Amino acid sequence: MSSKKRILSAIQPTGNMHFGNYFGAVQNWVRLQKEYECVYGVVDYHAMSMPYNPKKLRENTWNILFNLIAVGVDIDNLFIQSLIPEHAELSWIFNCFCSYGQLSRMTQFKDKSLQSKDKASDEFISAGLFGYPVLQAADILIYKADFVPVGKDQEQHLELTRNIAERFNRQVGKEYFVLPETLFTKIPKVMSTADPTKKMSKSAGDKHHITVFAEEARIRKQIKSAVTDTGENTEGKMSAGVENLFSLLEASGKTEAHNSLMDSYNSGSLKYSELKEEVANGLVDLSAVFKARKGEIEGNKKEIKAQIKASSAQIRKRAQQTVREVKELAGLANVKF
Ligand code: TRP
Repeated sequence: MSSKKRILSAIQPTGNMHFGNYFGAVQNWVRLQKEYECVYGVVDYHAMSMPYNPKKLRENTWNILFNLIAVGVDIDNLFIQSLIPEHAELSWIFNCFCSYGQLSRMTQFKDKSLQSKDKASDEFISAGLFGYPVLQAADILIYKADFVPVGKDQEQHLELTRNIAERFNRQVGKEYFVLPETLFTKIPKVMSTADPTKKMSKSAGDKHHITVFAEEARIRKQIKSAVTDTGENTEGKMSAGVENLFSLLEASGKTEAHNSLMDSYNSGSLKYSELKEEVANGLVDLSAVFKARKGEIEGNKKEIKAQIKASSAQIRKRAQQTVREVKELAGLANVKF
């Protein structure tokens, strides 16, 4: 086993990947692979916690995997959660190390259950949604991860994960689980170019996100029409729209252009059209690389699927080992009777 520290992160299967997803999380996953031993899951069990469509779920699961590979995640580091049923098994065990009160205080549960209530037609709030953070704790602890790179919105779930680990350790009288730490790295906050006060997101509509595999012309058009300055009084501070364009430029790796345009901004001579042109170039260059890889994957889907199944099977061995040890410690029946 290598002495590298371990990273675990996961993503829900959703449709196409946009630059908010990429710069906000996935680009970081790709970078971390150089320094850490990484495992990254596509969490399809989690996706069942909200109303969903079975056919779409399976389609989205494969789709996001192809996308992750296209943007640079190593196949060997990827797994599909439901191909490793030990996650669900450990989640049950952890349910017994976590209180009802704790789960009811989770803000994501409160927000999402309110969301379902808002849609009058769909008031079904699943127990799976309530138990969602326990399954997340299982995802993390099953691989004995040292670090979990996630956004601020997941901090409460990480706190709960450490709590479950501590309660388990106390019960079994052994420091079995290492407490995982949240890895906050400098990640840009990518806002919608059509409304820079909102996060870039798919649910807000087509104008509000730029897909990483989009046609060049579309990317250019969306950046060209980006909101810069709405004439609001920013009290000498950069407007949200311009700030967002600068972050996109920096995130896309165009450091020189970023610095020289920032100098222009500071001296009051920045032309928005030039800033937009550079941002569009940055995104188009990245997208070209992604699209080329995506093309290769499209022509090779069967093979790639087989490789993902194989990597999941390989990663599963680690999960099985943990569950064996946990069952032994927790007093469940084992093979040694
Ligand atoms: N809850 C996470 C999200 O909504 C996804 C997730 C599930 C996750 N299991 C995880 C993230 C384990 C990190 C580690 O983004």
